[in-house]
Amino acid sequence: MKLHVVFAPGGLTPAAVQGRTVFVIDILRATTTMCAALTHGAKAIIPVASTEEALRLAQTIGSTDVLLAGEKDSVRIPGFHLGNSPLEMTETAVRGKTLIVTTTNGTKALLAAQGAAAVYAVGAANLTLAAEKAREVIEKDGSVLVVCAGRNGAFALDDAYCAGRLAAAALESRQPRRGLNDAAIASLDLVRRYGDRWERPLTYSRAGRELIHLGFRDDVLDAARLDAYPVLAYFHDRRVTLAPVPV
Ligand code: MLT
Repeated sequence: MKLHVVFAPGGLTPAAVQGRTVFVIDILRATTTMCAALTHGAKAIIPVASTEEALRLAQTIGSTDVLLAGEKDSVRIPGFHLGNSPLEMTETAVRGKTLIVTTTNGTKALLAAQGAAAVYAVGAANLTLAAEKAREVIEKDGSVLVVCAGRNGAFALDDAYCAGRLAAAALESRQPRRGLNDAAIASLDLVRRYGDRWERPLTYSRAGRELIHLGFRDDVLDAARLDAYPVLAYFHDRRVTLAPVPV
């Protein structure tokens, strides 16, 4: 059994993800926002690396069912329809739409995981479903990789705590320290430190404090709601959609 965590996606190579199932976390806010959008009926979310790429792709697709969403320095990009707030992803805004999304860290982490056997986007919002999937993959393949989007290429407390919660829920009562890398052990230690109250690590984190300072306290609290947007968000073929249900 192998459960590895990386605290930032910088060092990920195609070889490191190839053939593996990867769980990508950017709880504040990209992966939470994606779960909110899918819960409220968005057809698909296409993560891209930059504003320019988002604009180019929207022009190529050329449909009124496409919305541009995302942030730069945490605020909505001028000319975009939506920012990166889970609270903006209402049914009225997103039902039936395809969202092209670019964010500072989250979309880059998803793109870095491309080439994996399967990629899921995770936050507190869909933790129980994601942990069930991780458990199933561990049973079947013996290995999962959890990738934190982090912050500007470095460790972020909010994502690392979420990784610990995912690991704890996926491992249940197993005691497999042998299969954990140091980052996985550290993320489980964060769960011991903060307990099960998501608000604490989220509001203590640098990302959380900055979002609160910018007026996004409700987004931080929304991201702290366990299973608020219970969808298995699956990244494949360049887009995030609801995971196919096995028949
Ligand atoms: C990120 O990708 O780091 C986030 O979108 C930042 C934010 O939510 O403002």
